[in-house]
Amino acid sequence: MEGSGSADNQASSSDRRGAPRGDVSTRAHHDAIYTLARAAELHDEDTGDHVVRIRLIVEQIAKKLGLEDAVELGYDAMLHDVGKLTVPVEVLRKPGALTEKERAAMQAHTIHGERVLSARPSMRRAAGIARSHHECWDGSGYPDGLTGGEIPLEARITAAADVLDALVADRCYKESWSYREALQEVCDLAGTKLDPGIVEALKECDQEGSLRDIFRPSAYKSDASHLDAAG
Ligand SMILES: [Fe+2]
Repeated sequence: MEGSGSADNQASSSDRRGAPRGDVSTRAHHDAIYTLARAAELHDEDTGDHVVRIRLIVEQIAKKLGLEDAVELGYDAMLHDVGKLTVPVEVLRKPGALTEKERAAMQAHTIHGERVLSARPSMRRAAGIARSHHECWDGSGYPDGLTGGEIPLEARITAAADVLDALVADRCYKESWSYREALQEVCDLAGTKLDPGIVEALKECDQEGSLRDIFRPSAYKSDASHLDAAG
């Protein structure tokens, strides 16, 4: 990928520890990830489509960046919001602005997600994503206020995928954006919220047509085919 010099690809392949091996155990591992991820998103949407799209987008970006285990990274990214299980439903579904206390409860989903996932070695990378997927390239994110390359690469990739999909998604607290509008917004966030190198990779995926396909209803069927969707 030709980018702006960011989006280093050092962290992902080296941080994968304890991934299950073999078809049966891998499928069971993926099923468990999907089920837990879907449970965490249940109050935002009940189809499971968001986490499937996140997996596919992250996988495409990771492949574009030349990362070795793009498929497994996509699954790890599915668990980015697992800490939302600790956030009160009325906060998750509140259409207006959050109070300071509510915002703190919402932002704590990063810490809680890391805490839950870090209990198992095979979830160590997913735990890092859960903690850092709301960090911003310019240091304005949370929970640690990391900047640039301090933010784990996997979390930077997931952040770009999450912004794109969240904008396109139709939620109780927001209207959906068109794919083109959402992609433009992601491009506009390069260098502030998002890693410009990763945004560049995302644009290359779009130019190849593969990214747009993820948002076509026929691209996959949620639930059973989460393992089989092209990507
Ligand atoms: Fe989140």
